[in-house]
Amino acid sequence: MTALPQVLLDEATLAARVRELGAAITRDYRERELVVVVVLKGSFMFAADLIRAIDLPLQVDFLGVRSYGDSTTSSGVVQITSDLSSPVEDKDVLVVEDIVDTGLTLRFLLENLETRGPCSIKLAALLHKPARTVVPVQIDYRGFEIEDVFVVGYGLDHAQRHRNLPYVGMLPGNES
Ligand code: IMP
Ligand code: MG
Repeated sequence: MTALPQVLLDEATLAARVRELGAAITRDYRERELVVVVVLKGSFMFAADLIRAIDLPLQVDFLGVRSYGDSTTSSGVVQITSDLSSPVEDKDVLVVEDIVDTGLTLRFLLENLETRGPCSIKLAALLHKPARTVVPVQIDYRGFEIEDVFVVGYGLDHAQRHRNLPYVGMLPGNES
């Protein structure tokens, strides 16, 4: 039997918060041109909604990463599976990530992007689990702080499943 994940953040709650983040980004980057770096795969849905809430000229690029570990925890060993299509030197970069858990993936990614000489780098993350922090990462635009539970949906997966749920939910039995 496959029970549906229990709703943690419903569609309306997500949409309202994403609109607020988009408005804040629009205000902060006025007169500048952004490069939005979407970290695949988990943030594709959040990013699709977020960029529609940003009223600025912007470019979108994608960075594929795989973080090794067991199914629900990150090891901090991160592999870039698909790199950006253009240089970000002298650009204002906004990294869009689904969730900051231990912070290990983001720390690696931000350090990697820093070596490419961008004008600035900021981070937008839909979710943050502060209870699991191993390395602190500054989240400039944070959607929601959540408890230490493993979540799926709205792009997030467990073993590649549940990405298509329109809400963020908890797996039955909470596998975090
Ligand atoms: P970190 O390196 O521990 O911060 O983990 C980062 C990555 O682990 C995220 O980008 C997600 O892909 C994945 N992850 C961490 N927690 C969850 C969760 O609760 N649900 C789904 N994926 C998660
Ligand atoms: Mg991810």
